[in-house]
Amino acid sequence: MPSTHVVTTLSDRVLAIELLRREKKNAITTEMYAALAEAFEEAAEAPGVAAVLLHGQSDLFTAGNDLADFLSPAARETRSAIRFLHAIASFPKPVVAAVGGPAIGIGTTMLFHCDLVVAGEGTRFQLPFVKLGLCPEGGSSALLPQMAGHRLAAELLLLGEPFDAHKGREAGFVNMVVADSSILETARALALKLAQQPADAMRTSKALLKRSPGRTSLEAIEDEYPHFERLMQSQEARDIFRAFLQRK
Ligand code: COA
Repeated sequence: MPSTHVVTTLSDRVLAIELLRREKKNAITTEMYAALAEAFEEAAEAPGVAAVLLHGQSDLFTAGNDLADFLSPAARETRSAIRFLHAIASFPKPVVAAVGGPAIGIGTTMLFHCDLVVAGEGTRFQLPFVKLGLCPEGGSSALLPQMAGHRLAAELLLLGEPFDAHKGREAGFVNMVVADSSILETARALALKLAQQPADAMRTSKALLKRSPGRTSLEAIEDEYPHFERLMQSQEARDIFRAFLQRK
């Protein structure tokens, strides 16, 4: 379902997905969730897409779920939001997020499913679920304690106060903090680099990283090895080995 508030642009095999509803602080409606879900579902299958860049503007990511939708009986269905969360959580190609300004509620929790997150100095994350009489969503009750440990996750999820990009980095879901003016170009450069990596190696590696974090190291070795052996025989890898050996 197309939405004027979710704008997609493909260039250099990077699909940029922009949240664009500035008059309502990019708050995400049911229609926008459906458009986001569709964009990720299509990008997962599209051979021309090698990475996704998810962004808002340098002073605004999103104020989270549209609160008017929460009150409207017609739109109070969460299927589109769940469909979007499933699509981003199981997305097989790398996702880079560029975040600035407010990133509230699902504006923070969707980042837990991204692979690289670039945040600006002016970013204000917030997980205000309990303050709103709600509870964590988007898998955040599992993912945040895994990344941040129970105590920091409890601080962020139970107090629900705004926090900055440095704290986001401490919590484990921000890769780098940059000036607000360079959020998008930094994130785009990273997405481009990821898009240029060998496709099968990238897809296989992301799938391995996303496997159960509870695995033992011995289980991980077993999981990895069949893929390593298969990739070692691939034309792509063999061409790269040969190019290295013939580089002089
Ligand atoms: N849902 C629906 N509308 C929202 C919204 C949301 N989550 N967040 C902002 N808006 C709307 C406001 O109602 C306002 O609309 P109006 O101009 O028609 O009155 C417009 O966006 C601008 O918001 P405003 O609050 O005036 O901007 P601000 O710069 O003072 O504050 C925020 C920005 C993001 C800090 C503030 O709007 C906010 O806290 N929003 C709610 C965040 C939230 O609780 N999200 C839900 C998480 S589950």
